[in-house]
Amino acid sequence: MASPKHTAFAVVVAFMLATTHAQLNPFYYALTCPLLPGIVLDVVSRALKTDDRAAAKLIRLHFHDCFVNGCDGSVLLENAPGIDSELNAPPNDGIQGGDIVDNIKAETERFCPGVVSCADILAISSQISVFLSGGPIWVVPLGRKDSRIANRTGTSNLPGPSETLKGLKDKFEALGFDSTDLVALSGAHTFGKSRCMFFTGRFDNFNNTGRPDPTLDPAYREQLRQLCTTQQTRANFDPTTPTKFDKAYYSNLLNLKGLLQSDQELFSTPRADTTAIVKNFAANERAFFKQFVKSMIKMGNLKPPSGIRSEVRLNCRRVNAASGHDVM
Ligand code: HEM
Repeated sequence: MASPKHTAFAVVVAFMLATTHAQLNPFYYALTCPLLPGIVLDVVSRALKTDDRAAAKLIRLHFHDCFVNGCDGSVLLENAPGIDSELNAPPNDGIQGGDIVDNIKAETERFCPGVVSCADILAISSQISVFLSGGPIWVVPLGRKDSRIANRTGTSNLPGPSETLKGLKDKFEALGFDSTDLVALSGAHTFGKSRCMFFTGRFDNFNNTGRPDPTLDPAYREQLRQLCTTQQTRANFDPTTPTKFDKAYYSNLLNLKGLLQSDQELFSTPRADTTAIVKNFAANERAFFKQFVKSMIKMGNLKPPSGIRSEVRLNCRRVNAASGHDVM
């Protein structure tokens, strides 16, 4: 049995881990929710059994969370009095995975009520998603809090599918990400799907040229044209290994098989510094995985602006009713 001395020590450590918001750390829930990794692993594994895009949906949610007001779970908030949901902004139109987050949240509330933030659920489930799909494993810094506001206009930080390389770089640089981060993080398009509406503009009258996008392989274009019977139809980002987290995204770019214009721009823009990075990752999966981990941790470190009230939400879709326990 633990001695009173040990118990006191554990309480002090737990308190320290749970109160140091300034710096995220991997042991944040070590004492308050030690089962967290197992819970997330279990729920995501189960989700993947019936939905082979579950992993892709979760990491995309984390990206859209962090790029708007930092990683604060704001992307998950639905419309409510005082909340202008980010989900209704065009860049989040059709974003999915909220149901999987609900399931993870329900389990964490069962085992460690009121402890685990929704923002942390997105961060840790992204890591587990990548790992379960064959990608790298890494230690996720934790301790984020959930915002009590959404920032709908802030969704303009998110890049669009027809973005030029300059546009992509500008949006990433604004948040502290360089070309290597941009290329590495875009590698998440190695799994998941995109609706046809985001790339059919490349088929015929690309940028009002009256011709198809010259950086889209013609045979691949015709396959996509056949598939896209409606604009809502979804195509695999990676036609070779659609559910696997691997370096195939970059080999596809070398073969002019990037699905979105924004993907292909990374390789096909003349004289771009990103071309060599794509080639390197296409040749060397270890280099891609190593950089992906670095860039994901960097993305997960994006902080909300100071002074925003935050809390651990009990339901990821809405702020808590009572604001007595919120923190700044
Ligand atoms: C670089 C600029 C990026 C652009 C322009 C972009 C754009 C898009 C678009 C248009 C879709 C399809 C959405 C739909 O059909 O509803 C998509 C899906 C996806 N994005 Fe990105 N994205 C970018 C970067 C990222 C990053 C940094 C990540 C994660 C680290 C990411 C992860 C994903 C995943 C996994 C999907 C598939 C989701 C699913 O199957 O539901 N994307 N992205």
